[in-house]
Formats: sequence, C-alpha cells, structure tokens
Amino acid sequence: MRAMNQPATVRWQPAIAHRPGPLYRAIAAALAEDIANGTLPPGTRLPTHRDLAWDLKVTVGTITRAYQEAERQGLIGGEVGRGTFVRDPRRLTEPVADTGGTLMEMNVGLIDLSVNATALWPDAGALTAATQAVAQRPDLVALMSYQTPLGHPRLRAAIADWLADSANMHVAPEQVLLAVGGQGAMLTALSAVTRPGDTLLVEQLTYTGLRAVALHLGLRLVPVAMDAHGLLPDAVEQAARAHGAHALYCMPTLQNPTTATLSLDRRRALVDVARRIGLMIIEDDVYGFLKQPAPPTLYSLGPDVTLYISSLSKSLFPGLRTGYVVGPRPLFDRLATILRATVLAPAHLGVVVAAELIDSGEAVRIAQRRRALVAERQALARSVLSGLDLTGSDHAVTHLWLPLPENVRREELVRGALERGVKITSADGFSPGKGEVQNAVRICLLGVDHASQLEKGLSVVESLISNPVATSAAWV
Ligand SMILES: Cc1ncc(COP(=O)(O)O)c(C=O)c1O
Repeated sequence: MRAMNQPATVRWQPAIAHRPGPLYRAIAAALAEDIANGTLPPGTRLPTHRDLAWDLKVTVGTITRAYQEAERQGLIGGEVGRGTFVRDPRRLTEPVADTGGTLMEMNVGLIDLSVNATALWPDAGALTAATQAVAQRPDLVALMSYQTPLGHPRLRAAIADWLADSANMHVAPEQVLLAVGGQGAMLTALSAVTRPGDTLLVEQLTYTGLRAVALHLGLRLVPVAMDAHGLLPDAVEQAARAHGAHALYCMPTLQNPTTATLSLDRRRALVDVARRIGLMIIEDDVYGFLKQPAPPTLYSLGPDVTLYISSLSKSLFPGLRTGYVVGPRPLFDRLATILRATVLAPAHLGVVVAAELIDSGEAVRIAQRRRALVAERQALARSVLSGLDLTGSDHAVTHLWLPLPENVRREELVRGALERGVKITSADGFSPGKGEVQNAVRICLLGVDHASQLEKGLSVVESLISNPVATSAAWV
C-alpha cells in the first residue's frame, strides 16, 4: 500500500521515435515538452527507471541518463525511497516532493495572483518550432554579430509588422528601436526626456516597475487624478503647470492596475495638452494587443509628442526580452546614445525568435490564444466573485481591479489571503504618492498555470470578503 499523501505514479508514454539525436536526449526533451504542456503537472511521480525502460524498450541506463539530464535542467527531482517527481517551475530551488505534505501543497504551494505573468504552456509547441526554424537560418551567424544599438533592420521590420497587426500602428522599420524588454524601453525613453531631479507626471495608481525606474533616475513622481475612465487631460495640464513637469508616463489602454482605457476624445485632448504646454508623453502599451479593435495609440495621434514603448512579454514570451521604442526622429540620436551606453546592442537571439514567430504568422495566433485564455479566466473569475462589483474592471485584460466593500479593509484582506496561501496586491502597492488610496486590490488571472488553482485562490478571496470578520487581526 502506498504511504498517505504519496502521489500515484503516472503511466507515461512519450513519443520519441521522431526525435533526432541520442535516445536519452529524446526522452528528456519529451519530458520537458509534457511538463510544459501540462501533461505532467508539478508533483507528478514519474515511473521508475526500470518500468519506463520496460515500456519504451530501452535500457535502464538510458532512462537513468534521461532523468539525470531532466534533473540537470531543473525539471524533475529525485528522492531516495520516494521516487522521481516533476518540479514546480515556480519553485526551482526546492523539489516539489520535498514538502512531504499533501498533494495540494505539493502541486500548488502558494497561489500567486500578484504577478501579471501569462500562462505560457499552451504556446510551448510554437516556441519550440520557432527556435528550431531559427537554428536553420542561413543568416543566423550574421545576426549574432555586433549590431548598431538600434538593432538589425530585418528585426526592426518584423516589429513594425507586429505593430501594424496588433496595435493598428503603421510605422517604418527605421522608426523602431529595439530595447531589452518593456522595462528597458521604459528606462531608455525616460532617460531620453528627463534629467535627475525632474518631475514626472504619472497616473494616480501606476505600474510598480515605473516607480523603480523613476527612483533609479532620481525623478520626482507627481500623481495625476483619474476617474473610472482613466487619466483626466485637464488634471494633466494643471499638474504640469503647477510642478513645471515636461514628461508624463501613462498606460492609455488597459491601464495597470485599474484596467481603464482612455476614450478617443481623451486621447485627442491629451495630445492637445502635450502640444500646448510642451509635454512629452511616454505611452506604455504592453497590454494594448489584448484590446481589439485596437484604439488609436497616442503615438498615432501625436507622433511629435509621444514616445511609444512596449514589448512582446505579454503577447509572446517575457524571456525573449524583446522591447521597443518608437518616437519622434529628433530624439533618435539621444535614444541611440542611451542604448549604446546601457546595452551596447540588443540581445538579438530573443529578438530573432520573436521575428520568426511574427514572420511565420504564429505571433498573431498566439495573441489570439492569449485573448481566448484571458476571456476564459475572466469568466471563471466573475463566476467565483459573482457577488462583487466588477463592473469597472475590463474583461479584456489579464488582471481584475476589485474595489472592496466598505467593511473590508484591503490590507487585512491581503494579509488574510496570504495566511491562507493566496497572494494578491493592495492598491497601495501602485500608489506613487502619499495621498488617499482607493480601497481596492489587483488580482492577476493568468500567472497560475491551471484554472483550478485560480478558482481555489479566488474562492479564498471571495470567502474572506463575504466574511470580513475572518480577515480581522483583532481576535485577541
Ligand atoms: C505596464 C507594464 N509595463 C512594462 C512591463 C514590463 O514588461 P517587460 O517584461 O517587457 O519588461 C510590465 C510588466 O508587467 C507592465 O505591466
């Protein structure tokens, strides 16, 4: 009889016949693929070396080498007397089976709904195919040499195509500058238009990564009022005049965290304000591809006053670290100088894979799958949280913005959820200033691989909100 809490061993029949190279590598590659696509979830106990050798008609030594290879890659972990287990990719430092706890603990651990990551496993096959195609490119070695800081023209052309497909934004390849992720694009753009000590206007609640860049660059953040429909152009003008600000960072489409999307009128008004008072807008559009049809970008409306920044981290894969800046030509030399000083040249291998995905048409399909996944997770979330007011939270994006009833305090909810193994983020985490903060939390829907984990996490949040006394620390 197996010990209590001991997961059952799976029967695993990998397809290895079509794989090139040594057998052990083929088995390790099949393991990696089935872990990535969810066939073998974290915590799964794999067959013994002997059983798998028997099933696959190979020697035990081949299986031992295959498991060693997968272990070296951090995919699985072995324990004397207990077996070999699939590791949780989120907890790379500790084998899943180490907890010795229940299957739920082993499989799930912390349910982290605080990170706006995207479940990548549905697109693992597309990534593998693109990487294999890249390996065959006759110009691969040429692409791996030093390039100009702006990036290879062929890759910049792929990004220009992507902007046309995903953001309905039509720019020439020479207008696209490659950066290292959206974060690198933000650092580059802000460095180009500010000096230490300057004031940067931001939305009342803003992206945490922006705050890190501002701190690094010595910028003073001034929050600008928003309403349920996003940033208020009049308030931008007032704040710019009052604080002598020359730059504004904002997310006009699917704002993080509030999910607000600016109307066309507000976009036009914002561009007018920028032109009137000499303000440069840094428009962050990382979630824009999720909103279809894409609203016109601020850059399309005001290319003379906007630096457009984005990345393929949400639409394709964050590990590609493919970010980009599109901006007014007079700023190009300055942007190139900053790129040369900070990264010298783009990390081309990731961008080449991204370009392959774009050129083959796969990026459009991945983006469609992401939108479908967002729709599924949003529907699930709204059914679990059906008693709560989510009317102001846009269905199109990877997270929820949840205003809380008056009797629920956000910090107690966040703490109570964490004590029960669920991580969410309080509005305070997005506040750039010291002012009053909305009583709300952000809940990310795609950072966990399995819908069942999301459902479990949301149920915890829902029950804490329905029974607020349970979140209170004032028991004793
Ligand atoms: C609004 C916003 N901008 C930029 C980024 C950073 O993206 P990247 O991973 O491409 O650096 C994020 C990541 O969550 C984000 O939410």
